[in-house]
Amino acid sequence: MSSDSCSSPPALAWIRSRVSTSRFEPNVEFSDDRIAELIAYACEAPSAYNLQNWRFIAVRSPAAKQKLCELAYGQRQVLDAAVTIIVIGTLNGHEHIRANIEPMVGAGLLSEQELQSWVDDTQRDYEADPRKQRDEAIRSASLAAMTLMAAAQGLGLDSGPMGGFDAQAVQAEFGLGPAEIPVMLVAIGRAAADNWPRKPRRPVPDLLSIV
Ligand SMILES: Cc1cc2nc3c(=O)[nH]c(=O)nc-3n(C[C@H](O)[C@H](O)[C@H](O)COP(=O)(O)O)c2cc1C
Repeated sequence: MSSDSCSSPPALAWIRSRVSTSRFEPNVEFSDDRIAELIAYACEAPSAYNLQNWRFIAVRSPAAKQKLCELAYGQRQVLDAAVTIIVIGTLNGHEHIRANIEPMVGAGLLSEQELQSWVDDTQRDYEADPRKQRDEAIRSASLAAMTLMAAAQGLGLDSGPMGGFDAQAVQAEFGLGPAEIPVMLVAIGRAAADNWPRKPRRPVPDLLSIV
């Protein structure tokens, strides 16, 4: 944890104290309710047009962990973490947009006409553009994954993202549909004592242009 994190607002303290956990204490178990709570927080992530173009598979059983571990090139954290979430981005979010935003009409935030133009704009942007569908699925799922990690930290848990897995094999083994991309794995549990501490970051002046 950095020296300023104790006096920082919680969100800033979290940013500076989060580490990617790759070594977890084994034998930590999560209930269905705990997993559902984590996913409810993940779903608070923003998405373009409020597409919410994501889905989640919680890999918790020993058999499912074993299968996913093999497809994640033997990464041990899949076996030891309480759960690993397959964060899935969906390509057809625009097909569900009306249902996503209709409650805003009921709440008086949007007129029927505004709802229709929101739906039309979304269809126009995505329907005939597979590349944009894919980009958007990866953007949304990545934000959901980050929000999931923030939620884990907020609940006193530890998490680690993983891109090291065979996406095609995960798609086949875990029954993903043709419009679903496994974007990231997020292992969640309790960090083991020998987990790596925070890693260094590149200096801001090397990375920032203000124009
Ligand atoms: C997209 C993505 C893929 C990653 N894949 C893996 C992975 O397969 N295995 C792993 O142990 N860590 C993985 N990491 C964790 C990174 O190694 C880690 O975020 C980075 O070294 C910085 O460390 P920190 O998050 O603790 O600051 C991944 C992180 C991201 C964002």
